[in-house]
Amino acid sequence: WSKTVHLLETVISTQEEAKRLAEDGAPEGTAVLAEEQTGGRGRMGRKWHSPSGKGIWMSVVLRPQLPLLTTPQLTLLAGVAVCTAVRQATGVQAGIKWPNDLLAGGRKICGILLESSLSEGELNYCIAGIGISVNLVSEDYPDYIQGVGTSLRIERGGEPVDRSALAGVVLAELESLYALYLEQGFQPVRERWEAMSVTLGRQVAFHTPQGRNEGTAVGLDGQGGLLLRDSAGEIINVCSGEIELI
Ligand code: BTN
Repeated sequence: WSKTVHLLETVISTQEEAKRLAEDGAPEGTAVLAEEQTGGRGRMGRKWHSPSGKGIWMSVVLRPQLPLLTTPQLTLLAGVAVCTAVRQATGVQAGIKWPNDLLAGGRKICGILLESSLSEGELNYCIAGIGISVNLVSEDYPDYIQGVGTSLRIERGGEPVDRSALAGVVLAELESLYALYLEQGFQPVRERWEAMSVTLGRQVAFHTPQGRNEGTAVGLDGQGGLLLRDSAGEIINVCSGEIELI
C-alpha cells in the first residue's frame, strides 16, 4: 500500500488524475487530493460540487486481484472506511445510505464513486473517488443542493474540521479495512456496514425498467446488493442504482 499522496490545486476531477497515475503503474494506495475540482463527477452522471478549500476531494488507486463482480463489495467497503473515519475524527455520527452515501441528520455529507478499468475482461484497477463536504457553510451550496446536502462543519454547529487530519484518518481506515477484506473476505465489511447503516429497517423506493417500486430494506446479499421485502412478502434484490429513503 503506497503512502504517496499527490496534493493538487485545481483539477477538473481527481478521478482523471488518479486514472492517469494508475495507467502509469502507480501502486495501490496512491492518492490524489485537490483543493478544487471544476468538473467533479458524481454517480449516475451527476455533477459533484467541489468548491475550493472546503472539502476533501480525493481519489485512491486500488488494484484488487479479484473478479470483477467483487466491485460492489469495494463500493460498500469505501463507505464503511469513510464513515468510520468521519465518526472518529469529527464526532459527527454519520450513517450509510445504500450503497455508500454518508448522511448526517438525513442529509448527504459524502459521496463515493468507484470506477473500474478492465483489461481483457479482467479487473485492472479501481479508482475510489471520495467527496466529503467538510467545511462548506450554507451559502456555499448552489440552489440545487440546498436542503439535500450538508457539511461536517454545519453538523458541528459551525465548528470547522481540520481537512488534512481527516484525510489522513480516511486513508488509514481505507488501508486497514481493505487489508482485512483481502484477508477475510466480505463478511467483516458487511457486519460493519450493517451496523452503520441508516437504510436497514427503512421503507425505501427504487426504480426498475418496469417503474417505481417500494419495499422494506432487510439486509445485504453476499455481493453487496440490497435485499428488500415488498408488500407481498417477496424478497427483491437491488444490485445497482439508487434508492430513496421514504
Ligand atoms: C456521488 O455521491 O454521486 C459520488 C460523488 C463522488 C465525488 C468524488 S470527489 C473526488 C472524486 N472526483 C470526482 O470527480 N468525483 C469523486
